[in-house]
Amino acid sequence: MHSAIPNFYKLSLQERREKLAEVLDLDEKAQEGLWGAQPLSIEKAEQMVENVIGLMSQPLGVCVNLQLNGRDHLVPMAVEEASVVAAASHAAKLLRAGGGIQAESTAPLMIGQIQLCDVPDIDHAIAQIEAQREALLQQAASMDPRLVEVGGGPRELHLRRLDPMEQDDPLGPMLIAHLVVDVRDAMGANAINTMCEGIAPRLAELSGGHSRLRILSNLADRRLVTVRGRIPFEAFCKKGQSIEHGEAVALGIQEASVFAERDPYRAATHNKGIMNGIDAVLVATGQDYRAVEAGAHAYASQKGRYTALSRWRVRDGALHGEMTLPMAVGIVGGVIRVHPTAQAALKIMQVSTAQELAQIAAAVGLAQNLAAIRALANEGIQQGHMRLHSRNIAAEIGAVGAEIDRVATIMSQRGGRFSHDVARSILEEIRKG
Ligand code: MEV
Repeated sequence: MHSAIPNFYKLSLQERREKLAEVLDLDEKAQEGLWGAQPLSIEKAEQMVENVIGLMSQPLGVCVNLQLNGRDHLVPMAVEEASVVAAASHAAKLLRAGGGIQAESTAPLMIGQIQLCDVPDIDHAIAQIEAQREALLQQAASMDPRLVEVGGGPRELHLRRLDPMEQDDPLGPMLIAHLVVDVRDAMGANAINTMCEGIAPRLAELSGGHSRLRILSNLADRRLVTVRGRIPFEAFCKKGQSIEHGEAVALGIQEASVFAERDPYRAATHNKGIMNGIDAVLVATGQDYRAVEAGAHAYASQKGRYTALSRWRVRDGALHGEMTLPMAVGIVGGVIRVHPTAQAALKIMQVSTAQELAQIAAAVGLAQNLAAIRALANEGIQQGHMRLHSRNIAAEIGAVGAEIDRVATIMSQRGGRFSHDVARSILEEIRKG
């Protein structure tokens, strides 16, 4: 399967669907899921959340050109923001020119926390719990035999002492147990929370205190993905442009990266750009994207200062990008079980493990970041963004069918003043012939 489909964006909706069905050999069920012909049913929605009154849909696009660890992927992205899918696809093409994105991950280890309060002697409690570590891990394992059967299960139990941090802190020291569980292909929240609740009474007993919170941590820093890519200078050049042009673009991106590495105000926006890509993949595949968002931003502060998740450097005739972040995603259970579009989206990505899904989402995040800072460091993002948005403007002022593209094209050709008034007068001209 080849993900570099030339001019995919120029095809009509029908042609894009036909192309995708052909390239991926999609069966009818997958097509129905992707085209929205078989959306989430209202009955299923009622089983999922409370007070249901309807369904909310959003655009589903495809990121083309992505190559990861030598394999091509077409990646579904659900997102309401213009330019995101186009930008990811363009940057994936740049990264492809340097050999594609390389990714690696840790084992799918999630952390669960059990808070122990009013512990009379913390050191004694630690010794008591440590002496029972194996028995506690076995007790946790017995709560999810299915997970153990597929090769996962509890792996470690650590203890952390949390002392008061401020003078008006109302509590004394508390003891926190970290249960580390290999959750295999699940996101893992259910397995972890069940185990934490299950072993908490015994932990409380051993500590001489009482247990309070028993919940997973979204700072999933034992479940990390690293993605890397390089773009040779010449990939930044259009026909006729010198290699120096490509180098200047790369240096601009390096400057943008260092700005975000040094400054939390910029890092927040830089990381938002990364999450534009990641979230779109997560939403399309029915993931708990809030969990990944929380993990990403907490991880970005882990060195005591909020900073950029990615880093771009110029060396050896190329721009090199790298990013590591936690990625708690699953391909079994959760929304995937019930949502036809999420099922079809996973199918077209051709992933067979949660780690692969995590790597693809992170790769799209790296590409998205590259696209954003490449544009910001050069022409700015408004021109490209408005060019794409101009089709919405055309439709809003009443253009229909082929008129939409004509109005949008003429607006960009005339120096790019993208307003409703300009669009209206162009439409009038078109209609007058
Ligand atoms: C907009 O959704 C995302 C950007 O602001 C990201 C960035 O500034 O790097 C363009």
